[in-house]
Amino acid sequence: MGVTVIGTPYSNGLDLKLAELLNAERVEAFFKRFPDGEAYVRLDEGVVRGRVVVVVHTMYPDQDRRFVEALLLAEAAKGAGASRVVVVAPYLAYARQDKRFLPGEPISVKAVLASLAMAGADVLVTVDVHKPEELAWFHGVAINVYPARLYGEVVKKLCKSLSDLIVMAPDKGALWRAKAVASSIGVSYDYLEKVRDRVTGEVSYKPKTVDVEGKDVVLVDDMITTGGTIARAARILYEQGAKNIYALCSHAILLDGALQRIKEAGVREVIGTDTVKAPPGVKVVSVAQPIADVLRRLLELLGVGYGAST
Ligand code: R5P
Repeated sequence: MGVTVIGTPYSNGLDLKLAELLNAERVEAFFKRFPDGEAYVRLDEGVVRGRVVVVVHTMYPDQDRRFVEALLLAEAAKGAGASRVVVVAPYLAYARQDKRFLPGEPISVKAVLASLAMAGADVLVTVDVHKPEELAWFHGVAINVYPARLYGEVVKKLCKSLSDLIVMAPDKGALWRAKAVASSIGVSYDYLEKVRDRVTGEVSYKPKTVDVEGKDVVLVDDMITTGGTIARAARILYEQGAKNIYALCSHAILLDGALQRIKEAGVREVIGTDTVKAPPGVKVVSVAQPIADVLRRLLELLGVGYGAST
């Protein structure tokens, strides 16, 4: 039993990197659209049957379509006789709606995860999901990769002196990220108190004094979308005396105008990863190695030998 990595037009290069790091065979899924726009995928049954199939398919941009394609890929792999279907979704769509904030809302991520498992995914591997607890909605093994050590190394390179460095979360929900990154390099961390209006989506901050006077600050978050959260946080931190501010996120979605908004707030550099295709101006680090490390441990636990020739 060996491992086959399946690449798609939306693997963002991670399929190639993972196949190389795992010394596994890699094949490309066939993609087309029916004339009415519906998605169609096909896998080569010969490289799927009896093997652990790792489908690498991120879910941004065009989340709805990417999600449906992930379902089709999982079903195709299971249907073609894969011994285990592992879906690597570096960016998991719909993860931010992880509860019913207002009556009548769906738990969107629950619907997404339940469907993936029902379609045939035995294992889901994702990177820095909005809230790791939400993966409990997946009926199978779900793993959240948070590359704290990699991020720690990135932070070290950004700032000259570790003694004058603090890792900040822009809200309490991201505090665990700041703690993980800061702890990996032995520096301090803190958070700001963000409040989001559940109806308008508007973000504001409660007054809070943090010890950033004369320090380099690295703001860490799961994603940057409009840039509003990071821009507001940066302004508050500069008002409190921060020297240089950097932003580090896993998913650099950065819609039109977001980078400019962040730069105008004085953020020196924005760092993202290859979970999604980051726009120009964002420095990108690859999360291939931390994902490969997790897959390697998973394959060992499954007792699977891997490599193209096994
Ligand atoms: C929210 O809780 C998330 O962790 C991010 O802080 C948020 O999605 C960032 O969005 P934006 O860049 O639009 O402020």
